[in-house]
Amino acid sequence: MQDFSYFCTMAGIYVHIPFCNSKCAYCGFYSVPSLKQKERFLEALKAEIVGREEYLSAGDCGASPAMRPALKGNPLTPNIHTIYFGGGTPSLLSVNEIGDILHLINTHYPVADNAEITLEANPDTLSPEYLIGLRQLGINRLSIGIQSFFDNDLKYLSRKHDSNHARQCIAWAKQASFSNISIDLIYGLPSSNAEQWNRNLDLFFEMGLPHLSAYALTLEPNAILTKQIEQGKALPVNDEDALRDYDILCHRAKENGFLHYEISNFCKMGMHSKHNASYWFGTPYAGFGPSAHSFDGRSRQWNVANIEQYCNALRHCEERSNPDNTLQEKEQLSPEQHYNEYVMLRLRTHWGIDLKWLKREMGERFSTYCEQHAQPLIAQGRLSQTREFLYLNDQQMLFADGVAEELFWE
Ligand SMILES: C[S@@+](CC[C@H](N)C(=O)[O-])C[C@H]1O[C@@H](n2cnc3c(N)ncnc32)[C@H](O)[C@@H]1O
Ligand code: SF4
Repeated sequence: MQDFSYFCTMAGIYVHIPFCNSKCAYCGFYSVPSLKQKERFLEALKAEIVGREEYLSAGDCGASPAMRPALKGNPLTPNIHTIYFGGGTPSLLSVNEIGDILHLINTHYPVADNAEITLEANPDTLSPEYLIGLRQLGINRLSIGIQSFFDNDLKYLSRKHDSNHARQCIAWAKQASFSNISIDLIYGLPSSNAEQWNRNLDLFFEMGLPHLSAYALTLEPNAILTKQIEQGKALPVNDEDALRDYDILCHRAKENGFLHYEISNFCKMGMHSKHNASYWFGTPYAGFGPSAHSFDGRSRQWNVANIEQYCNALRHCEERSNPDNTLQEKEQLSPEQHYNEYVMLRLRTHWGIDLKWLKREMGERFSTYCEQHAQPLIAQGRLSQTREFLYLNDQQMLFADGVAEELFWE
């Protein structure tokens, strides 16, 4: 079992770029299909990056309670070990615009020399020159939204690219010296079948990439596809297809030497997304941009999911370190909420629940409660236990949320 205790003095930065070329029918993420507000947004984003510079260095944020005595007297400034440009479509910004944001982050935050810097990219926005430009900026990880290598799936999902372009841009990314490349695929598509899903996975494995994120198609309440299906205008989605594809996915990933380290994430040894892992390990992070979430170790806060309101809040903020209160909502976690969140996040991962950590950081009442409530689940074969860890087996991972609920503090 890998030791992640060192995560406690790390921190991450997430930057949300809320623009897309068009809105994909299935997507529930916050973005708008127009670049009209880009300049205003970039100004506001820069003001937020500068204005919230204290967020990750305030108080004892970043250190676990057990570490705090050892750090007493030492001003703790967490190193930024990961930066993640997500969206929306960050690859709609020019190399210069991304460079300016990175420069600002580097000026105002202690970014580690070997930081993982990821950019989410849509195939239809990529070209060889653009990818070379990103690499030269120091972006060292790409997450490309391929979704499928088949045109009938891409049409069902209303994607802008076709399968040839999907393959082409992976080749360009390799030529631009990106070695840490991840792609997103979506399974359980009514336009697909077991054979086509296997073929999608064949293509991924043949490309020799180190990371795959594969998601079951989810019908989001605010997505166009959900309405289209309700009105009988698009093929319906069914759970059996998703379960079948998930089973294929787990087996094929294992056969090909991939570690299934989170419900939807698979990697070659050591190539997990360090940024996403920090969400599951309770590492503090600051999120900038509309709809972005932040966590300082004890409380969560999230920015308003509206570009107009976001820009106004930052423009009206007189004192930059105190943005106007229409920007964010905040939730202070009680110990019970913190426990529930820990259980939910960690069960989604192959590292599972660390009972020793629970006892040390949250107290014996939580570790005992967790272990006791786990016993019936172990007897049902839904959960396994080693001396210190409780975890789900591969096939059970899709049901992580249901198992977590059984362990929640009532
Ligand atoms: C933040 S999104 C978008 C990234 C990028 N804009 C793109 O579309 O390629 C990250 C990934 O979430 C997945 N995703 C988004 N909505 C989904 C849904 N309703 N069901 C399953 N996967 C979804 C897609 O695989 C997508 O690439
Ligand atoms: S899936 Fe990606 S490109 Fe499509 S609307 Fe969502 S964020 Fe934009």
